[in-house]
This record gives sequence, C-alpha cells and structure tokens, in this order.
Amino acid sequence: MNQYILEIIYLIASVTFVVGLKMLSEPQSARRGNLWAAFGMTIAIVGTIFLYQSKDPNTQTSRETIKLAFIFAGIGLGTIIGWATAKKVKMTAMPELVSLFNGMGGACAALISLLEFHHNVGHPERISVIMAGMIIGSVSFSGSIIAFMKLNGTLNKSYRLPNYNIINTLLMIVTIGAGVWLTVSGSDSMSMLLLVFGLSILYGVSFVVPIGGADMPVVISLLNSFTGLAAAFGGFLYGNQVMLTGGILVGSAGTLLTVAMCRAMNRPLYSVIFGAFGESSAAASGVSSTGGSIKDISISDTAVLMNYSKKVVIVPGYGLAVAQAQHVIHELEELLEERGVEVKYAIHPVAGRMPGHMNVLLAESNVDYGKLAEMDEINPEFASTDVVLVVGANDVVNPAAKTDPSSPIYGMPILDVENAKHIIVNKRSMNAGYAGIENMLFYDPKTSMLFGDAKDALTKLVAELKTM
Ligand code: TAP
Repeated sequence: MNQYILEIIYLIASVTFVVGLKMLSEPQSARRGNLWAAFGMTIAIVGTIFLYQSKDPNTQTSRETIKLAFIFAGIGLGTIIGWATAKKVKMTAMPELVSLFNGMGGACAALISLLEFHHNVGHPERISVIMAGMIIGSVSFSGSIIAFMKLNGTLNKSYRLPNYNIINTLLMIVTIGAGVWLTVSGSDSMSMLLLVFGLSILYGVSFVVPIGGADMPVVISLLNSFTGLAAAFGGFLYGNQVMLTGGILVGSAGTLLTVAMCRAMNRPLYSVIFGAFGESSAAASGVSSTGGSIKDISISDTAVLMNYSKKVVIVPGYGLAVAQAQHVIHELEELLEERGVEVKYAIHPVAGRMPGHMNVLLAESNVDYGKLAEMDEINPEFASTDVVLVVGANDVVNPAAKTDPSSPIYGMPILDVENAKHIIVNKRSMNAGYAGIENMLFYDPKTSMLFGDAKDALTKLVAELKTM
C-alpha cells in the first residue's frame, strides 16, 4: 500500500517539476514555478523517508535501517544554510551561488555511487550506472567549486599547462578507462574505486581551471546539466522515478541553456571550453586605437534631450545590475512617460551575466513587462527612436559584431542602437566589458558619453528632469 501511495507522490512531484520548469520561462510566473517545483521536491523527500520500503535485502536504505535523526539533521542544516545564503546573495553574485549549489548536487550523486558500489559488485549493469554517476557527479562537483572560486575572485587566474587540451583529454580517457575496468572486471577494489573518484575530481579541476573567468556562466550551465545527468543515474540505480525525472529535466534544461547561451553569443561550445575569451583587458583613454574621439554630455543636457524626445529606448546591461540602478531607471521611465515620451527597454538575450538577468532585475522594480522588447522586436524600431540610453551595457551594443570579422564577438547578434538619432552611453570609464574589447559605438559622432556610476547618474538625471 505504502509503495502505491509513494508512486502517486512521485507522479505528482514529477508533474510539478515539469509545470514549475514551464512557469520559469515567463517572468510573471517564475516565482510560482519555483514554489511548485519546491513543493514537489518536498513531498517526494518526505514520502521517500516515511513510505519507502526496499525490496532488496542488500540495500542499506530499508526503512528499518535508515537513521531518521541523521536525515533530518542533514535536511535541517542544509535548509538553514541554503535559505540564509540565498536570502542575502546579491543579484550579481547569483551565478556563483548557482555554481556552489550545483556542485553540492554533483557531490551527492558521487557520494551515492561511492556508498552503493560495494552492494552491487557482481552486477556489471548496476556498476556501470554507479561509475557513470560517480565520474559525472565528481567532475561536476570539483568543476563547480572552481567556477565558484573564479566568479567570487578567490581564483582569478586561468592557469594553463602547455598542451592542456591534450593532457585533459588523456586524463578523461584514463578516468573512464579505470571506471570501465571496475565495471567489467567485477573487482571490489576500494583503492581502485577511490582512484576513479580522485581522477574524476582532478579532471573537473583541470577542465574548468583553463577556461576564461568571463565564460563561467556558460560553463556553470554545462556543469548543471552534468549534475542532472549524474542524479538521473542515481534515479536509475534506485529505480526511483522522481529522481530520474528530476535529473533528466535538470540535465536537459542545462544542455538547452548552454546551447541557447552559445547561440546568443554566436560562439561554439568548443571555443568556450578551449578558448580564452574576455581575458584581455582593453582599457582605452578617450582616444580610440583608430584615432576617433569621444564626446561627453552633462546631466542637464541629457535631461533636455530626453524631455523633448518622442521616443526613448533604454538598453540595460551588466553595469545596471552592478550599480543596482533598477529602481531609479523605472522612476526615470515613469517620469518621461508622464511627459508624453514613449519609453521601451531593449533586452538583449545575453545582457548581464546570466540568462534573463535584465528581466529579473527590471521585474524587481515592477517595470511593466509589456515595455520589455526582445532584440528582434526592437531592432527595427531604433531608426525611429530619438534617444537611446545605454546604461552599463557594452558588448551587446558593439557594432564590431557586425563589421569587424577579426573581433572575438563577430557574428554575435547585437542591438542596432547606432540607427537611433542620439545615443547616450552611461558607464564609469572607457573600460571594456565582458569581451575585453574596444567599442567603436562610443566614438560614433551621434554618441555622447554620460560618465558615472549608473545609480548616481540616473538619480541626478531624475532630479534634473523633475525641475523641468
Ligand atoms: P558588458 O559588455 O560586460 O559591459 C558592462 C559595462 O558596464 C562595462 O563596460 C562597465 O564599464 C559598465 N559598468 C560596470 N559597472 C557600472 C556601474 N556601476 N555603473 C555604470 N556602468 C557600469 O555587459 P553587457 O553589455 O550587458 O554584455 C554582457 C556580456 O556578458 C556579453 O558579452 C555576453 O556575451 C556576456 N555573457 C552573458 C551571459 C548571459 S547569459 N547574460 C553569459 C555569459 C557571458 P565601466 O567599467 O567603464 O563602468
């Protein structure tokens, strides 16, 4: 009877995962989607703890032997740490938090394999699943921890051994080879098991260490899909449908996201993994390498220009998130609308540092979703726009993506802001963005630079507009 109830619970949980995931694709429903999936996970965990009865006398997970106190202590501790960390994390630090949590998922999958190995020796089909879960989970764990350290600045260099690609490939072959040997030989060697575990951890480190820190969001998404896959192997091992479904969903969502990010940046995955993108820092000083010069604009001139415009398009970028200027930009938008100016936000798919970064940021300040325009929708509108206000964005408005085949971002679809009548760019300096390259838009005769921190500059702009 318990088993039937449990299976119904698993079915409900699986449905909530799918529904939750679907709801995550719209900013309006994303929060609720998260809660739905969390609810499904909660009932699956509670159901497993109280209703699961093992059919296999060899497994250590039968209800009689599980240590409820340990389980609840672990859940309690994890909940407190997870809750507290997620509560206080800044929006800009979200990718590193995701990386850390993802690493924990990979570690769990690897631990399951380590614990279950001895109970399954002699069953090569089960050992193969255990090996796959351990190798992928361990790679995901150590790779995610390195990604976390790179993003939070603890590890701010990309160390590359000579021929690191060859070394990494050999390491991967040796690791998989050792796993295959354990599977087919029927050996129960603990030292061999620990060797595969250690090699996998090492591979995760050597795989992520050489990757440019700026490419970490893509790598995190890839590692996310590894963790999903490793969890799915766990589900397969236990014949646990909800673990299998959850793992497959995470694995496929991570893969799709990785592909979507690479496509939006027009960079193949191999160039993310083997390239050294965004490592160089090209700081200029007001004069471009090709001899152009920039022009400043004051707050009051910006206010006048915007006040007398018919249509203004705001292009938010990573700097808006850094400055936490989402509330003041909404105030600026409302102020302009009150004066009869049509205002829209142009959202580039990889603006910021994580998928949907700008949507989440603007949703935080209650910007009307109807005002957010995707790149394909807004690009034809720039020609009829009086003023484009670029706030803390750089690469996503860099025309080199269209004009310079030697540029690392050549081919990346960008916002065609240069078609507008006036372009005002707010940033703090002439420093480069993520790709580490110069932006010729800043030297365009139609462009004026409004230097300063986004929050500070926009607050002054709002104050100036209020006096008009
Ligand atoms: P970036 O090209 O990184 O430019 C951000 C600009 O913001 C910088 O040039 C910086 O200039 C400025 N800035 C920083 N702090 C600021 C502040 N407090 N106030 C005002 N400006 C500030 O950003 P983007 O245009 O949003 O492009 C995103 C990049 O990230 C793309 O290259 C994309 O491929 C990459 N990427 C995105 C993702 C996702 S999924 N979103 C994933 C991987 C990679 P100053 O230092 O001069 O102020």
